Amino acid sequence: MGRKILEVNNLSTKYVTRFKEDVYAVNDVSLTVEEGKSLGIAGESGCGKSTLALSLMGYYFPPLHYVSGDIIIDGKNISLLDPETIRKTVLGHEIAYIPQTAMNALNPTRKIIKFIEDVIRAHDSKASKKDIYDLARKRFEVLGLPASVLNRFPVELSGGMKQRTVIAISTILSPKVLIADEPSSALDVTSQKMVIKMLKDMMENGIIKSMIFITHELPLLYNVTDDIMVMYAGQIVENGSSHEVVFDPLHPYSKGLMGSILVPEEGVRDVKLASIPGTPPNLKKPPEGCRFAARCKYTTPICRASKIDLREAGEGRSYRCILDTEELREVYGDV
Ligand SMILES: Nc1ncnc2c1ncn2[C@@H]1O[C@H](COP(=O)(O)OP(=O)(O)OP(=O)(O)O)[C@@H](O)[C@H]1O
Ligand SMILES: [Mg+2]
Repeated sequence: MGRKILEVNNLSTKYVTRFKEDVYAVNDVSLTVEEGKSLGIAGESGCGKSTLALSLMGYYFPPLHYVSGDIIIDGKNISLLDPETIRKTVLGHEIAYIPQTAMNALNPTRKIIKFIEDVIRAHDSKASKKDIYDLARKRFEVLGLPASVLNRFPVELSGGMKQRTVIAISTILSPKVLIADEPSSALDVTSQKMVIKMLKDMMENGIIKSMIFITHELPLLYNVTDDIMVMYAGQIVENGSSHEVVFDPLHPYSKGLMGSILVPEEGVRDVKLASIPGTPPNLKKPPEGCRFAARCKYTTPICRASKIDLREAGEGRSYRCILDTEELREVYGDV
């Protein structure tokens, strides 16, 4: 086993709404990402991917609240640090998060170099303009981005270039963990490929030590990350290597996610996607038993009766279902 860069043990967080209702968006999540490795997190809209990403930074402000669990980055437990310490010493430096809408959230009246100044000065208030510019120029060169972008405004950049620029800004301090939340979803296929290549290059040349890539498209992760974690209704429902989860999904939800996304062939338009019938449960009052039971083809009364734990299915492989692997493959018709 390689050096653990990110270790999360039993993390639970919740939103508290204006009406004082609790929304249990992240429930008992444990994961590990080793040095040089990447983890993909997949799941439908609302299953808690972005909330988990926010929670992993240990930087909580209402309506998001920490409930329990540990977040350990390169051996240091950050879960009990106060927000100011997190902001100054952890964000951007130990862990960086690129939110889903980051590229559209750039202030249009500021040049790209200004955003880089902000990130660097949050940690080193005395950094000189020249040093920041030199660092930014070198980093952009390594990443294959023209240095001229530094003096441009966000509106002057194409979608793909803007997203790659956002990634370069967010990782300027070479964080140990990078969390990219749907970084390629809004882009055309060519730009998607460039973004993914850039993230892989950053891992290879050591700018980042580990990566979490969030998407609702499970099959996309096969070419992008080493491992995959599938989330449903705030919980992990399956873990494994990307190859295992994509080609041999165990949990009925993962199986459904694989079936619900078709990769259209070139020249074929309007491919109709099959979807998983039903909707995820209300996270204000999640079901006692299996959270997927209401949508699962193979539900039995036992599934609804009590909490279903994750079960091991080999090294690094686990899933949350009462059926064993043989029974699952049999019901899927794979054996
Ligand atoms: N500010 C908030 N207050 C209350 N509930 C919230 C808030 N933000 C998100 N939620 C709820 O938390 C749950 C998880 O949302 P989250 O945004 O993490 O999902 P997601 O998997 O990232 O979805 P998407 O694919 O659409 O980005 C959802 O039920 C959502 O309604
Ligand atoms: Mg999200």
